[in-house]
Amino acid sequence: MAILLNNHGYDNASWQAALAELLPEQQVYLLSDMTPARRQQVEYALVWDHPPGDLAGYPNLKAIHLLGAGTEALDADPATPDVPVLRLVDPQVLEDMARYALYWVLHFHRRFGLYAQQQSQAHWERHNLCASDEFRVLVLGLGMVGKTVASRLAANGYQVLGWDRNQAALAGVECYGGGDLPLALPQADVIINCLPLTPDTRHMIDASLLRLLPDGAVLVNISRGEVLVDTDVIDALACGRLSQAVLDAFSTEPLPAESPLWHHPDIHITPHMSGATYARSAAKLVVDNIHRIEQGGQPFPLHQPGRFTDNNKM
Ligand code: GLV
Repeated sequence: MAILLNNHGYDNASWQAALAELLPEQQVYLLSDMTPARRQQVEYALVWDHPPGDLAGYPNLKAIHLLGAGTEALDADPATPDVPVLRLVDPQVLEDMARYALYWVLHFHRRFGLYAQQQSQAHWERHNLCASDEFRVLVLGLGMVGKTVASRLAANGYQVLGWDRNQAALAGVECYGGGDLPLALPQADVIINCLPLTPDTRHMIDASLLRLLPDGAVLVNISRGEVLVDTDVIDALACGRLSQAVLDAFSTEPLPAESPLWHHPDIHITPHMSGATYARSAAKLVVDNIHRIEQGGQPFPLHQPGRFTDNNKM
């Protein structure tokens, strides 16, 4: 048995080190070192941003372990072989994403941007603010990321609303489902997008959705760029419907230098880092799944292509 490792060329070395510790007997081949004979040996593929079509070239493949949570690239590849696909949902990463969301909610609730501006002008002025339990945050998508984000914000005293395509229930969070999104949007001081990219969510955050927000709302995107219509976000900033936007994910990554998003005064950009993967803890999750499969058990979280169940959400 052998493993194909291709973490999009990022940090393969940390993964190799972690795998060597956890599976010392295993051969681990990088895509760049692959040969026809090695392809025959590969039973597990550990991949992220893998070249479309390539996974069809491993006749003894038993499972694909994505080194991330989103499955849209694999779903869009007609050559993806019919083997179990496992997403990587590392609790440490979920917590990081929740902290990223909390950081921005604090930033806007406590008006830290305004105070930074005031400091640059040596201007002393204290502004009134609403209590945190009156500051309303709406989390779109209550999969594993959305649930963690919503729960941690609620635990920090914010008034949290959640929306999911399927009605969900979450302690401390006022949950909305399906067609009830128009009821939740007008209540949001901040909306945090945690939706997976699916045919239903592509371009879902458009002018017609943004129009339902109260004036001056803030949009935070920690899922996928394609869930947003960028030009509609820019228009919503221009008319004041949105006061600021925080974007961590983009339709094209890296975000091209010529993108107008880079220099927009009301847009904060981070390079898809809200939840970076830690090879050490993530490799342990992957290897636990390999052991489960080898022992005839059920690995998780198992992705069911074409079915956007709770399991498949980000
Ligand atoms: C990162 O964006 C992931 O899907 O894990």
